[in-house]
Amino acid sequence: MPELATHRTRGLLAAVLIAPVLATVGATAPAQALDNGLALTPPMGFNDWNSFGCDIDAQDFYDMADLFVETGLRDVGYEYINIDDCWMEGRDAARGTTERATSGRSMTAPYRLLPDRTYFPDVDEDGSGAIEADEEYNGIKALTDYVHERGLKLGIYSSAGTTTCQGLAGSLGYEEIDAQTFAEWGIDYLKLDTCGSHSTTTMDGRTVSYPDTVEGYEARWSTMRDALLEQDRPIVFSICDFTTAGQSWTWGADVGNLWRTTTDISASWSSVVSNFKQTIVLSEYAGPGAWNDPDMLEVGVDGALTPRENRSHFSLWAMMAAPLIIGADLREIDPDSLSVLLNDEVIAVDQDPLGEPATVVSQGNGRWVLSRPLANGDVAVALFNETGTASSISTTALATGAESASAYRLRDLWSGATTHTSGRISASVPAHGTVMYRLTSDGGAASEDALVSVDATASAQTIPHGGLVDVSVTVTNDGRTALQQTSVDLAVPSGWHRELRSISGKSTLASGASRTAVFRVTAPAVGDDPIEAADLEAVASWRQRTGSRSVSSSVRVTALTVVDGSWPTADTTADGDALFGQVGDILAIASAGAGVSNPTRGPGFTGAATDEYAAIYAAGGASSTSTAEVTVSQRGSTASGDRAGIMMRNDMAGNGQPVGVALYVSGSNSVALVYATDGGTAYTSIYPTSGFFGGTTVPAGEITLRLMRSGSTYTAYWSSDGTTFNQLGTRGITLPDVAATTPQDVGVFHASGTPGEATEAQFQGFSTS
Ligand code: GLA
Repeated sequence: MPELATHRTRGLLAAVLIAPVLATVGATAPAQALDNGLALTPPMGFNDWNSFGCDIDAQDFYDMADLFVETGLRDVGYEYINIDDCWMEGRDAARGTTERATSGRSMTAPYRLLPDRTYFPDVDEDGSGAIEADEEYNGIKALTDYVHERGLKLGIYSSAGTTTCQGLAGSLGYEEIDAQTFAEWGIDYLKLDTCGSHSTTTMDGRTVSYPDTVEGYEARWSTMRDALLEQDRPIVFSICDFTTAGQSWTWGADVGNLWRTTTDISASWSSVVSNFKQTIVLSEYAGPGAWNDPDMLEVGVDGALTPRENRSHFSLWAMMAAPLIIGADLREIDPDSLSVLLNDEVIAVDQDPLGEPATVVSQGNGRWVLSRPLANGDVAVALFNETGTASSISTTALATGAESASAYRLRDLWSGATTHTSGRISASVPAHGTVMYRLTSDGGAASEDALVSVDATASAQTIPHGGLVDVSVTVTNDGRTALQQTSVDLAVPSGWHRELRSISGKSTLASGASRTAVFRVTAPAVGDDPIEAADLEAVASWRQRTGSRSVSSSVRVTALTVVDGSWPTADTTADGDALFGQVGDILAIASAGAGVSNPTRGPGFTGAATDEYAAIYAAGGASSTSTAEVTVSQRGSTASGDRAGIMMRNDMAGNGQPVGVALYVSGSNSVALVYATDGGTAYTSIYPTSGFFGGTTVPAGEITLRLMRSGSTYTAYWSSDGTTFNQLGTRGITLPDVAATTPQDVGVFHASGTPGEATEAQFQGFSTS
């Protein structure tokens, strides 16, 4: 594939331009200049940070080592047990010299880092019944020995600044003694963070200072690289520069074995997607011994990702040749998440010795095709659906870089199914899903099942209640052999009806042929639900040599009864496709949006925080003295960022400076009144723990909210029975930027809290007086 073939060359050129030292190794050498011979495939292991934060002790790591062995993780390649921040007690001015005197080891400098003895206690390793002098502060050394005995390796953490990100002792100015200490402990992997100051006077009076330039960043980690190379021990070097200022991918291959490409990952779908998007564009910089690191895995962490999202996360990381560092507590991980981590065919893609990370074949509307050449001539292909609705994603074998052949074998690395195709690759990929294939150019593949796809499209996505829509369902045979008795059907939810209008083609479907059926679908008559989304399920069935088969895909159509025209609507979300519905006194809003209360658009977002919500409102409906009330009868989801409530704001649709307040109940049962007194572009959160005007935990179920305006002062109440109202805080909030006598817009609002992912909230009995 010409595109992929040039990546290595481009990576080299980039590295040569940025780091002239590389020019001497010349155009035939691989991109990495850190010649430590390590991490020729991306490191695999465990790190405590995602699940434990600072709450760690030695036992956690003994347990993880045991579980690596017991669960089979070691056997599929996981190797490193990595300790993150918070293991250190501090730096001891005397300790190095004492150590040299008692143990005779070749310490060259004092000021040694010491493990925290409370959490990594000294261990009587020689079984003498007492802690010997050379066993003092051996908590990490003893752990290393234990881990090594099990065929595993130990990793540790420090910072290239004066402190770690949790404010403990960092390595700036002490790189040599720290590298020596780590080597003496038998450490195999060092993650060196970026926190702390980068100028300091050390305990022995030396001044060390690095500028905040790209060169300054490179120099900080280079100092530790050199110190590690001095040691008589191979140590994988992980550059944890999570800033974008440092641009570690441009110099990382010269300095470390891996480098972070993003800010910290968190256990959420938006974070996974954000880190993927920031990293997939950097593929050219990575190769054997030098990897892009989009941060550790959130598979199985806190049950935050769905099973399908876990599979996508793991697939994308494998496609990107990312380090596979497990973030879940293996004592508590659910079996399905563990099975994801154990998928050896996906791991084989990650660990492919060619070390060529995936590039984007095509991308648009959240539908991604990625491909990655593999050492044996196969190609790894991922069809990734970033969006919240099922979608067909297609490509061709040639577009993925596969060699030209009369047929190709496709191994689905999650379902285990093997099919053949004459070239086209197409699948219906569910919301947030990834179909991952290993593709082999193989003209003899016709003995396998044919690759068959079914695609459903609707003539409209939104129709009135009782209205009609045409849905066409096409089944395509991409295999080389004919299918028999091919039929299609469309399943609709109860209340919906469908009627077959036409069907083309024959039931014997030749190679490359398609058959299309058109169904006329009728939405249910309006009941008490203004917005009714239906996932219509298209199914194609056929017979072939190996037996009966079927595939399915779905298309979403929404029946909508719109809002009474006298009420304007506002949609300030970035995707701007909120739906607004009304039946009697029930109002419904299906919308995405980051939300209110100082939202950000997820990790990596650097723009100014802006409120994003959708609202149904009365223009100028809140006079200087007025009360608005509504019952939130359905919340969008159980997420804390999913918020529904009442808003009074000067300009509901303008989404400029707030000039007003929002009272909401969140998906996680928290009621708050938020406001901005500083004139920013977003409501400023009031601190949930302060207990004054928010963060109040309320029961699940219906919550009635009441918001009273008196001039520029607002008072908020909530009730779980519609009768007894509780005031939020002890007084009203007075906003200096609200003109006391000017009427404001007032209405109900909703935001899902996740940009691009709509949820639906409902409101009952909205009134203003
Ligand atoms: C930074 C890193 C994280 C973790 C923490 C520990 O935020 O990016 O991966 O190591 O520090 O404090």
